[in-house]
Amino acid sequence: MKLTLEPLPYDKDALAPYICARTLEAHYEKHHKGYLAKLQDAIAETSLANKTLEQIIVQAEGTPFNMAAQVWNHTFYWNSLRPAGGGAPPKALTEAIRQGFGGMNEFKRELAEVANGQFGSGWAWLVADRSGKLAVLSTGNADNPLRREATPLLTIDVWEHAYYLDYQHEREKYVEAVLDHLLNWDFAAENLAKVRRAHDTLAA
Ligand code: FE2
Repeated sequence: MKLTLEPLPYDKDALAPYICARTLEAHYEKHHKGYLAKLQDAIAETSLANKTLEQIIVQAEGTPFNMAAQVWNHTFYWNSLRPAGGGAPPKALTEAIRQGFGGMNEFKRELAEVANGQFGSGWAWLVADRSGKLAVLSTGNADNPLRREATPLLTIDVWEHAYYLDYQHEREKYVEAVLDHLLNWDFAAENLAKVRRAHDTLAA
C-alpha cells in the first residue's frame, strides 16, 4: 500500500497566535514528513510494505510501529485542531461528555491533567470504547489507543516539538490554549458518530 503524507488541513499560519507558523512549518515539514520517510525505509521489501498504517500500528513493533504511529498520530492531531476552534461541541458530543465526565469543565480539567501529567513525550487523547463511552488517557512516545481497542476522537501532541517555540517549557499554557481556542469539536463528533454507527450495525 502506498503511504502518503496527508496535506495540512489549513495554512501554516492559521493557528496563530496559539501555535505559530514556525512551529507548524517544522512540525509538519520536518517531524511529520520525517516519520513517513523513516517508515518507508523501515518497511521497504518487508511483509509490512503492503499493509495500511492502521495494520502496521496494531501488528508491528520497534521502528515500523513507532514511525507508523507517529505518521497516523500527527495526521489525526492536525485534524483535531482548527482555526477558531474550542467553544462548545455539537449537541450529541456535549451529551456524551456530560455522561462520561459530568460536564465540559470536568472533561477539560481531566484532559488537561492527562496531557500535563504525561511524563516526557507523548499524546493526550479523548477516546471512545465500542459502545461509545468516552474516556481520556495519555500514551507515551508514539503509542496509540488503537493498540488498546479504544477509538481516538481527538488528540493533543505533548511532545516538546509541538509547543517549545511558542511556550518553551510551559506545556500547561499550550494545553490550555489548545483546549480553549483550537480543538476541532466537529472532528471529534464525526469520530464518535462513526463509533456509534459501527456499534449499532453490530447490534442490529
Ligand atoms: Fe509532534
